[in-house]
Amino acid sequence: MLRTHTCGELTEKNINEAVRLCGWVDTVRDHGGLVFIDLRDRYGKTQLVYSGRITDYKSEDCVQVEGVVKGRPKGTENSKISTGKIEIAVTTIKTFSSSGPLPFEISKSTKTNEELRMTYRYLDLRNPEVQKNLFIRHRACQIIRKVLDARGFIEVETPILTKSTPEGARDYLVPSRVNRGEFFALPQSPQLFKQILMVSGFDRYFQVAKCFRDEDLRADRQPEFTQLDMEMSFLEEADLFGVIEEVLSVILKEAFGVSISTPFPRLTYKEAMSRYGSDKPDLRFGLAIEDLSALVKNSEFKVFKDVVSTDKGAILGIAVPKAEASRKDIDDLTEFSKAEGAKGLAYFKVGPAGVLDSPIAKFFDAATLQKISELFKANEGDLILIVADDRARAQKVLGALRLRVAQWKKLASTGFHLSWVTEFPLFKWNEEDKRWECEHHPFTCPHAEDWKKFRPAGELGKIRSRAYDLVLNGNEIASGSVRIHEKSVQKEIFDAIGLDEKEAASRFGFLLKAFEFGAPPHGGIALGIDRILAIFLGLESIREVIAFPKNQKAVCPMTEAPSPVNERQLKDLGIKIR
Ligand code: AMO
Ligand code: AMP
Repeated sequence: MLRTHTCGELTEKNINEAVRLCGWVDTVRDHGGLVFIDLRDRYGKTQLVYSGRITDYKSEDCVQVEGVVKGRPKGTENSKISTGKIEIAVTTIKTFSSSGPLPFEISKSTKTNEELRMTYRYLDLRNPEVQKNLFIRHRACQIIRKVLDARGFIEVETPILTKSTPEGARDYLVPSRVNRGEFFALPQSPQLFKQILMVSGFDRYFQVAKCFRDEDLRADRQPEFTQLDMEMSFLEEADLFGVIEEVLSVILKEAFGVSISTPFPRLTYKEAMSRYGSDKPDLRFGLAIEDLSALVKNSEFKVFKDVVSTDKGAILGIAVPKAEASRKDIDDLTEFSKAEGAKGLAYFKVGPAGVLDSPIAKFFDAATLQKISELFKANEGDLILIVADDRARAQKVLGALRLRVAQWKKLASTGFHLSWVTEFPLFKWNEEDKRWECEHHPFTCPHAEDWKKFRPAGELGKIRSRAYDLVLNGNEIASGSVRIHEKSVQKEIFDAIGLDEKEAASRFGFLLKAFEFGAPPHGGIALGIDRILAIFLGLESIREVIAFPKNQKAVCPMTEAPSPVNERQLKDLGIKIR
């Protein structure tokens, strides 16, 4: 055996045992001829002692050590680590492989330039702080499999070399050598295959699935990422919500030691927009949006009066508790609101006994001011911020302002606030191309009532869908829907988004064909595993939970992929670079 124990294993119980350890030299310290080495592996660190020279070994050499376990002298124990009460009196050290000069100190890798970290990702991954993220990720995936298996879900792998899927980003394409001039697309998700598995009768499917999207990158987006992808037959929304709530609460409990209560709160898209100005509301704080339109519509303030008199106009506001706002604070918030599209920002400072003070207070009678104060349950020191605009724009501005204010006043509570947002609109208007698009994807089931009512009238914007998102601390972490299983409805959806029969057949023909053979009612969801774990771990970027991520330019700094290929390869594929 190369080793008898790991570097995280030995305690006082092992004193006087002869042991053999393997690992990496973490630190070397010289105390007057007595050299101390911390030996590290993924399990922990163990202190080695020998008399020799400090220059014999250096950080990140990979070594094997033989010696005897001794108790550390009183006063030199380290209560922070499990091996802190012992050390190894070394008899021999053998170097497996020595390390070259390091580009950064392992224990400080997370504070190094990210490009350098990713170029030497194997060294970065030696840092226990970085390793922890992958251990947690492993644990979460095991829990997913355990919980879903117990619930009768079966894990099925779907193809990576496939056809374009309907998620709406750009595809990564793979040229076919055998079928020259033709291309596979890497899946943006397993969407079509999982629906087909429902047609096949698998009833409950899941997959920890790699997805590929050629889109502009951000801290929470990678070109290659992982979804927990699921689909169920004969379901209603609540069935699926229950499963996801169990998966996430068990992950939080077992991998993080955190309890959360279920069921998660549910709000419709309309409620989310009107209360929080966002379809991914951050519920770690209040700052809910109130509607003052009715209260101020007869006031003397022209800005408000004019806006309310229009069809879509609304006067909306939020109250910042204990804002104690200065002139400059208000100017900053006004600038911010304008950058978000507001025409201005009105405000009231709340004085003693809820009395409102503002340059515009003179336009309102005492009774109205009183009602505004009551609407916001205002207390002395609060600041009421008001935007008058088209309702949708006012919501959007206040949605952004809410987040800004919460950051400014540090209002977010700790912990994980999960909520479902349901009944998303089925379609959205694409102003640039002047056409309707699906808000989720074209297989999303319309809300039956709305479909009957608004579809014949062509009022597509009013149709709700049976799509839902899961939101965690203001981030969209999952998205799914009940699907269409009737061919006729599917065709009408394609019509509505201007996808003609030929195009639909060439893109999704195999799915439509499958639907001709007794498709069950079904639905599903996909959770962004990288995103969820990054948030659970309190990390800024999803790159931290991915072993070998791409950088902001969609390049892997370690392998330098993508890279040019040689002329011969291109010729085989029948490709010429333009
Ligand atoms: P959607 O496209 O909303 O739905 O994706 C589901 C979840 O995947 C995560 N996600 C990403 N994570 C990292 N990098 C990316 N580039 C990225 N894109 C998406 C998000 C998102 O909520 N087929 C449908 C699901 C369904 O209908 O069942 C789908 O893929 O957390
Ligand atoms: P004005 O009459 O343009 O000087 O505006 C008076 C106050 O109302 C200023 O504090 C503006 O910022 C504010 N204001 C102007 N337009 C709006 C609007 N659309 N919504 C909210 N406040 C506004």
